Amino acid sequence: MRPLTIAVPKGRVLKQLAPLFARAGIDTTSLLADDRTLLRETPDGAVRFLLLKPDDVPTYVEFGAADLGVAGRDVLLERQYDLYLPLDLGIGRCRMVVAAPEGAGPAPDVPRVATKYPRITTEHFAARGMSVEVIYVQGSVELAPLVGLADVIVDLVETGSTLAENHLVVREEITSISSVLIANRAAYKLRAAQVAPIVDALRAAVGG
Ligand code: PRP
Repeated sequence: MRPLTIAVPKGRVLKQLAPLFARAGIDTTSLLADDRTLLRETPDGAVRFLLLKPDDVPTYVEFGAADLGVAGRDVLLERQYDLYLPLDLGIGRCRMVVAAPEGAGPAPDVPRVATKYPRITTEHFAARGMSVEVIYVQGSVELAPLVGLADVIVDLVETGSTLAENHLVVREEITSISSVLIANRAAYKLRAAQVAPIVDALRAAVGG
């Protein structure tokens, strides 16, 4: 039987995810190993992990290269995927907000908004009947209003440090974000004998 394959995000969320996996009885030794391998297995060979950029996790799961994955709701809201979402993991909690420079005057009629999330941003302002010009950037979004690229930003806030240190303030909260377990639809049914016990163990670990 091939190992159950779980796509996990490298970076911040992995630090919260590993203890959750451990509570669910999944050996995390290989997951936490400090090396550059992108494909890792538990010692018993039952589970293998794919270490991915967070934005790529849903793609691997949707196409069946992984059976399960861990993805932020921000990524799932920004792009459309055909996935099953069995469980909110309660980690990676943050907020998606509109933020502007401290003390900024009223925004122009058509403000420029810098963001990694053009779709969410477009839908948010359209729902308020506001015209905006969305400017796509990949990161360091907080810099954009400081140097005249944009009037405001739409971005994630976790501790608030990045906003505060760049003299930005939250103007509006768009939605709250967390990490969810995602499953390939076919694997969820056809590999239920392997998938269901892991989902159940993670559900118990989240509750506990
Ligand atoms: C994220 C997010 C904010 C920051 C918020 O960026 O885009 O910039 O974290 O966290 P805080 O409220 O705890 O300061 P990330 O660190 O992932 O890097 P990026 O700017 O390259 O997207």
